[in-house]
Amino acid sequence: MLRSLSKIHFLSVIAAALCAILSPFNPAFAANPMKDALIEFKREGQVISSHSLEALGKMAQARPLKIFESHEKRTRTYQVYSARALFDQIFGKTWRLADELVFFCADGYQPSIPVAKFLAYDAYFAFASADDIPFTLVNKLQNNEAVTLGPLYLVWDNLAARTLLDDGASDMPYQVTGVELTSFAARFPHLYPPADASLSAQRGFQHFRKYCLACHTINGQGGGKAPELNYPVSVTEYIEPQYLKRWIDRPESIRYNTTMPALGIETPRRAEVIEEIIAYLEAMSKLKRSPATVSN
Ligand code: HEC
Repeated sequence: MLRSLSKIHFLSVIAAALCAILSPFNPAFAANPMKDALIEFKREGQVISSHSLEALGKMAQARPLKIFESHEKRTRTYQVYSARALFDQIFGKTWRLADELVFFCADGYQPSIPVAKFLAYDAYFAFASADDIPFTLVNKLQNNEAVTLGPLYLVWDNLAARTLLDDGASDMPYQVTGVELTSFAARFPHLYPPADASLSAQRGFQHFRKYCLACHTINGQGGGKAPELNYPVSVTEYIEPQYLKRWIDRPESIRYNTTMPALGIETPRRAEVIEEIIAYLEAMSKLKRSPATVSN
C-alpha cells in the first residue's frame, strides 16, 4: 500500500515537472474564473504583499493532489501548491514560530487555524481541478449550495491522516483572497470566556474556535458569513436550551432550507462537544462587549 502510494506520488511529481517544462503557462489557470485576483498577505494587521495566481505559481511547484472532498463526501483531485512552500517564500521561515493563520474569503467565511496544524499536517492551496470537473463544488453541508472554489481553496492531504478526516470541512476555506499571520489572543481578545468559567466552557471555547468562528461573531469578532451570537442578546437568552442544542445538531430540522451546516457528523465526542459549546455561549452571555468598540 505504502509502496504503491509513493509510486503514485513519484509519478505525479514527474508529471507535474513535465507539465511545468512543456508549457510556459499552466493551462489549469485558464479554468479558474478568479485567475486575475490578487491574494493579499498580512502580518498582524499590516499588508506585506499581494500576489496573482501566476506569481504564486512561480514560488511553488504545482502538483495534483487527491483528497476526500468533505463538502461533497467523495474523493476529488485538485491542482495544488504546498502551503508551507508558499508561506516560506511570502512570510519567511519565521512564520513557523507564529501562533495563528486567519484566512479571508470572498463569501465572508474567515477561519482561524493554528500554525501548529500546518506544521503537523500537509496543507495545500488548490487553484484548479486536476480533471475536467469545473473548479466548483456542490456543498452538501450547506443545503447543496453550488459554490466556486477560486481564487484559492485550502485543502489537506486528508487521505494520509485520519485526524484530518475527523476535522471534516471545518478548516477547508474556499474563495480565499487573503491570509494573515497573527496571534489569536491579540487579534480576538473579546472571545475569551471569563477566567472563572467552568472547564466545560473553556473546552467549548476551543470547539467554538474550530467549528463556529469562521462564520459567526461573538462580541463582533470572527467571521462575517452568519449572525452575531452574543451581543446585544445572547442566543442562550432567546433560544430555549433544547432548541439551541438541536440547532447545532440538526439545523435543517428547525429551519427549512437553512444554509447553516450541522456540526460535522465526523466530530469526535460529538454530543459532549455540543454541550461544551453551549456552556461557552452561556459563559459569554455574561461578558458582552459592543461590536462597535472592537474590530473583527
Ligand atoms: C458555514 C457557516 C456556519 C458555521 C460553520 C456555523 N454556522 Fe451557525 N449559522 C450560519 C448561518 C448562515 C445561520 C443563519 C441560518 C438561518 O437563518 O437559516 C446560522 C445560525 C445560527 C444560529 C441561530 C441564530 C438565530 O438567532 O437564528 C445559532 C445559534 C448558530 N448558528 C450557532 C452555531 C454554532 C454554535 C456553530 C458551531 C458549532 C455554528 N453556528 C456554525 C452559518 C454557520
